[in-house]
Amino acid sequence: MSDNKADITSHFHASPSCEIIPEKFDIEPFTMVIFGGTGDLSQRKLLPTLFHLCKDQNLPDEFSIIGFASSERSDEEYRELVKNAIIKYGEDDIENDCWDRFNRHLYYISGNFDDENSYKRLSQRLEDISRENKKGMKEVLYYLAVPPRFLPDIFQHLSYCKMCKDVYDNRVIIEKPFGRDRDTAIELNRIISTSFDEHEVYRIDHYLGKETVQNILFFRFANSIFEPLWNRRYIDHVQITVAESLGIENRARFYDSAGVIRDIVQNHVMQLLSLVAMEPPIGFEADYIRNEKIKVYKTIRAMDNDYIDKYTVMGQYDSGTVKGEEVPSYRQEKDIPDDSATPTYFAAKFYIDNWRWAGVPFYLRTGKRLAKRVTEISIHFKQPPLSLFKSTCDVREPNVLILSVQPQEAIIMHIGVKHPGIGNQLYPVNMEFNYESDLEGEVHFPLPYERLLLDCMKGDQTLFASQDGIESMWSVVDPIIKRWEESSLPDLPNYQAGSWGPEKARALLKNDGRQWRF
Ligand code: BG6
Repeated sequence: MSDNKADITSHFHASPSCEIIPEKFDIEPFTMVIFGGTGDLSQRKLLPTLFHLCKDQNLPDEFSIIGFASSERSDEEYRELVKNAIIKYGEDDIENDCWDRFNRHLYYISGNFDDENSYKRLSQRLEDISRENKKGMKEVLYYLAVPPRFLPDIFQHLSYCKMCKDVYDNRVIIEKPFGRDRDTAIELNRIISTSFDEHEVYRIDHYLGKETVQNILFFRFANSIFEPLWNRRYIDHVQITVAESLGIENRARFYDSAGVIRDIVQNHVMQLLSLVAMEPPIGFEADYIRNEKIKVYKTIRAMDNDYIDKYTVMGQYDSGTVKGEEVPSYRQEKDIPDDSATPTYFAAKFYIDNWRWAGVPFYLRTGKRLAKRVTEISIHFKQPPLSLFKSTCDVREPNVLILSVQPQEAIIMHIGVKHPGIGNQLYPVNMEFNYESDLEGEVHFPLPYERLLLDCMKGDQTLFASQDGIESMWSVVDPIIKRWEESSLPDLPNYQAGSWGPEKARALLKNDGRQWRF
């Protein structure tokens, strides 16, 4: 940093009262049962994250993790599987003393989700190894890392075998997608509510565990300069992009029956949308925040078939080149039928019909096998009322605020300045805050599951979806899924892997005199 720059910025350094003090959590002794404890999610995310939390000394001395899955194996063999998963997928080196500390908390139950005896064995294990918390209760966390079709069986057995409320201090963590549509989500909530109270249910969406996603609320409501502009008077439109360069990897069975809306839109995209559009909550507490989000979902303009045909875009990828590598089409992926009509791309124009946003379009898009991996929200401001300055550019660039979630975690403000020289020329530049480079060495970025698992252990539901939230998100997307499943399909595949999606998605903005940021 030059001396001059240092002089200017030093005036803004945090005052001593803003010193960041590492938070210490008092996590009570717990037992976590992972249904699907040998599966993909467990091996890639959960077990490495739990190891990391243990290594960072965030877990209490007394905790146990029980993997529950159908294959036969002993506790010792499960420990070996966990060790290999941490080595393969984790970010931490397995240092022996840490591993020894973690290793002795791991157990395994081999069982079937629909077999009562398996739950009896589990129950016995829970009795043997769980320790009481300060309230004299045993805390038991059930993580359901299993395909949705197994959920009803698991809940019914937990209830029947008396392993839930009134017996243990429980929490249950459920992966997305929660149901296949609003009706199945309601039914699933009904089944869960027979065994667990709503305050015990943690519906996980790993996007809410991302630092930059959490930062949206801080950015909006901890600064005074943006919120006065955050409305229809100053904002022309908003774009939300969740683009992936990856294909479906080894999840053909799940993906082909789900498709892009259930996989990404109903949860990740809707969460991003509500964080950008919601009103300030009356406090930073789970229900206050979740209720404001629900109001957003409820004010999204209802979509009839005409609207859906005009303002939504469905796509499926063809073969192509992604990052220099030839990749097959969706229909050529292993275990995908060669006439599959499952969409891998979604774009749409939504309106939020409330006082703040009336008339402001929100353009949303997400897809697999796009040109690159990028998740961002861009707020496009209106042009100033007069064009005072002559410019050599034909196009006057409006101010754009970019909240970049990944791959770079940054906030970028696109503004116009005078180009140095004797003329009066406008020149576009970026003001940028980049988490990694600006806070280099000062911070640890918790991985999404790290933050979310700790929140669950602490009993904080802020970053988890509520029952009403889930139902209202489904209410938004259900008509689109239905229309897409019923109506005659566009010719699929309709976009090349490595591109930015179907032509119709470009036209969606072009027809409004706008364009996607890329
Ligand atoms: C998951 C989806 O929820 O999110 C996957 O099921 C997708 O299909 C993934 O690849 C994307 O997450 P991220 O964190 O890589 O953006």
